Amino acid sequence: MLNIVLFGPPGAGKGTQSEKIIAEFNLFHISTGNILREEVKQQTPLGMAAKAVMDAGKLVSDDIILQMVEKVIQEHKHKVKGFVFDGFPRTIAQADGLMALFQKLGLSLSGVISLTVDEPELINRLLKRAQASGRTDDTEEVIKKRQEVYRNETVPLLQYYQERNLLYNVNGMGTIEEIYQNIRNILQKL
Ligand code: AP5
Ligand code: MG
Repeated sequence: MLNIVLFGPPGAGKGTQSEKIIAEFNLFHISTGNILREEVKQQTPLGMAAKAVMDAGKLVSDDIILQMVEKVIQEHKHKVKGFVFDGFPRTIAQADGLMALFQKLGLSLSGVISLTVDEPELINRLLKRAQASGRTDDTEEVIKKRQEVYRNETVPLLQYYQERNLLYNVNGMGTIEEIYQNIRNILQKL
């Protein structure tokens, strides 16, 4: 199996690049943000609990996220060639949880692709997307909050995966196609 984490700040292009990866490598996309937005739309108890947290740009609790991810992996692991995690893990507790889950299921993480983009460009992209996305967290204030939460809670994962020799850095500035070619070169070697 090819199991990869696509890592990066809000607006780095995780969703955009995931689409290209799953199409070419035939992998299953697990975006915790997309799953949560669907729960909000369906007004499930989970969605109702998560909405305020998401609208504030903060992180949904690790327990909820890990349960959600386990359910999707359990449902699909026998039918797929691997998973692309997008927007997960976001905390050390989530990363530890993923390792424990993989161990339990006899799976392993192939690599973590980290997209690097400078903050003014991230904010620019998300403000531009705000006009069409309908995402309630794409307002200037919440976009800035999401960047701050990323810096404080998610950046430590870079070192976590570096220490485990799983980290691959990719320049996330440039055209979508250029960035994808660099990701592809890495995936072909994993
Ligand atoms: P989530 O849905 O994961 O959002 P995010 O991390 O804030 O990231 P985005 O989806 O905004 O950006 P992206 O990196 O996918 O970029 P995209 O490809 O869209 O999370 C949302 C919320 O859910 C969180 O705040 C939290 O509350 C909760 N949540 C989710 N996961 C969680 C977890 N694990 N734990 C706890 N809480 C969790 O690109 C952005 C824009 O730029 C697009 O318009 C795109 O077209 C454009 N673009 C892409 N690439 C380029 C390029 N190369 N050049 C120019 N424009 C580009
Ligand atoms: Mg996304």
